[in-house]
Amino acid sequence: MKRILITGALGQIGSELTGKLQEIYGVENVLATDIRPIENKDGNFALLDVTDGERMQQLAKDFNADTIMHMAALLSAKAEGNPLFAWNLNMGGLMNALETARNLGLQFFTPSSIGAFGPSTPKIGTPQDTLQRPTTMYGVNKVAGELLCDYYFHRFGVDTRGVRFPGLVSYVTPPGGGTTDYAVDIYYKALEQGSYASYIAQGTHMDMMYMPDALQAIVDLMEADAAQLEHRNAFNVTAMSVDPEAVAASIRKHLPDFKLTYDVDPVRQGIAASWPDSIDASAAEREWGFQVKYSLDAMTADMLNKLREKFAHA
Ligand code: SER
Repeated sequence: MKRILITGALGQIGSELTGKLQEIYGVENVLATDIRPIENKDGNFALLDVTDGERMQQLAKDFNADTIMHMAALLSAKAEGNPLFAWNLNMGGLMNALETARNLGLQFFTPSSIGAFGPSTPKIGTPQDTLQRPTTMYGVNKVAGELLCDYYFHRFGVDTRGVRFPGLVSYVTPPGGGTTDYAVDIYYKALEQGSYASYIAQGTHMDMMYMPDALQAIVDLMEADAAQLEHRNAFNVTAMSVDPEAVAASIRKHLPDFKLTYDVDPVRQGIAASWPDSIDASAAEREWGFQVKYSLDAMTADMLNKLREKFAHA
């Protein structure tokens, strides 16, 4: 992997992945693309609507890419608000990216999610291979996507790889329209207001991971020896299983007066309740050495420090 086209480069993951890849592989070897223009950023950029497959392929060809990382997608809560649009964007974009990889012989990455599980999935220690009957449009997209990535590998030999990300926490780009976003908002509000009203109910556990660990996982999986990969796509990865109170307790170690209240949003709570409490990442650990650096407390300390710096410079 050394000439990489990224879609959704301004999104929650893409905006940090771009910099990480530029650092590792060289600024000149990364082409960031997004439907919105990027301002004040170093490196190569092109406008791209991922539903335009012809343009996607032309850009990859002109850039002489050997890898495509398809990050553009609508997150879970937004997708519930507009299911048809979500289907067209999430599935249309993915098919265009897979076809680009097939036609040009590119290595391929796209993230799946804990959203690919549903209410009938075992909730605790959710295995790598298990029941997947999601009840959200986002989940339907993710399961179909996982299957398509496997299909393109088996049928066409495309080197497809992917993980199922849990909720991702970062101080850089705020997420847009996810169910796990409370675990980001809570840190902002802790510093800004000293309190947070959670739209996720007390006792609702979901997996989370700090963004630096998520970015490293992408790089490690893409660099892994293909011969070691039994699963290739949709590896369960996680760093912690938390509920709002656990995050609040971790914040209180730095801000003892922090107050957590609840103002539950039925839509996002319904989605959260249909997802696992904690997933099992042992296949990723075994097959490509997946590991994380940040526990909940380590993440909290770093989030609060980095957000304080961010606010100071705002
Ligand atoms: N963080 C995502 C969401 O909440 C899950 O993949 O939609």
